[in-house]
Amino acid sequence: MSWPARVRLVEVGPRDGLQNESVPVPTERKIEFIEALAASGLRDVEVTSFVRPDRVPQLADARELFAALRRREGVRYWALVPNARGLETALECGVTHVAVFTAASEGFNRANVNSSVEESLARLKPVVADAIAAGATVRGYVSTVFGCPYDGPVDPARAASVSRVLLDAGCEELSLGDTIGVAAPPAVERVLAAHDAMGVPREKIALHFHDTRGMAVANVVAGLEAGITSFDASAGGLGGCPFAPGATGNVATEDLVWLFDESGVECGVSFAQVAEASGAIGEQLGRKLPSRARAAWAATRMRGTS
Ligand code: HMG
Ligand code: MG
Repeated sequence: MSWPARVRLVEVGPRDGLQNESVPVPTERKIEFIEALAASGLRDVEVTSFVRPDRVPQLADARELFAALRRREGVRYWALVPNARGLETALECGVTHVAVFTAASEGFNRANVNSSVEESLARLKPVVADAIAAGATVRGYVSTVFGCPYDGPVDPARAASVSRVLLDAGCEELSLGDTIGVAAPPAVERVLAAHDAMGVPREKIALHFHDTRGMAVANVVAGLEAGITSFDASAGGLGGCPFAPGATGNVATEDLVWLFDESGVECGVSFAQVAEASGAIGEQLGRKLPSRARAAWAATRMRGTS
């Protein structure tokens, strides 16, 4: 086993975790959630989106959220932007870490951002360039890399070609999304091999697994074995995309922190602090959180404050 000694977790709970929740979460509660996550040792926290408020009402307070957020030194606060309008507002709010997003399949991209993949790439290129010119760092999401809720299986070479365009546009990192949680470990290797063939270096790749079929941790292990060191996760395992029917939450941050701690892989994050943070937001939402590592911790408190 040759796993990396150290990994980076990108916390997407405040954005991916909350975007599909129907119970409105007040801005102050979101800020407490974000601040607690940043205090747990997470160095990358995706906090909101500058998208159409009628499409994602839960995140309609992005402007107010950034105005009130107290930033912790050393933490990168990311926001999703879909187009020039979103970037403009994000920059006005002082956003320095921007995530653009498109997909490897037409059906999902149309449902998500109302355009074809080619149209969205054409729209995003100047957005990435303008963000960089304004001093921001840009990450590029490619959704439905492992399968599409509308079109079915996706050719890994197609996904890799979309990644290549985003990389050439100036994205520092690509996050490959299993939007509907259909991947199993062999697919992870196939997708990474397709990226190798397209000249996309593995150190530029983060993996973003939704846990719809319970495969997300296994897929992270496949990623670790393939030398990937960045993984997206959501506190408590919250999450889902309103435009991906049937998809459930992201892999839980707690489940990955447990995996890394038990495997001697350093991630710099306190399990207990993340578990406390997601517990508070779960109470706010009035629902049980999917993370199994968290549920075990809550039942026994056996890990104390590790
Ligand atoms: P559109 O309707 O095609 O945009 O939306 P448009 O340019 O035709 O404009 C229509 C109206 O929207 C106009 O208003 C614009 O001003 C307004 P009007 O002039 O008619 O009053 N508008 C905006 N308002 C606020 N902010 C903006 C904005 N842009 C236009 N940025 C758009 C296109 C992409 C904006 C829309 O479809 C949208 O907001 N979609 C939401 C997409 C989304 O947030 N999806 C979830 C995140 S992606 C995800 O979860 C996957 C990921 O986790 C990875 C994975 O799991 O795979 C990242
Ligand atoms: Mg997602």
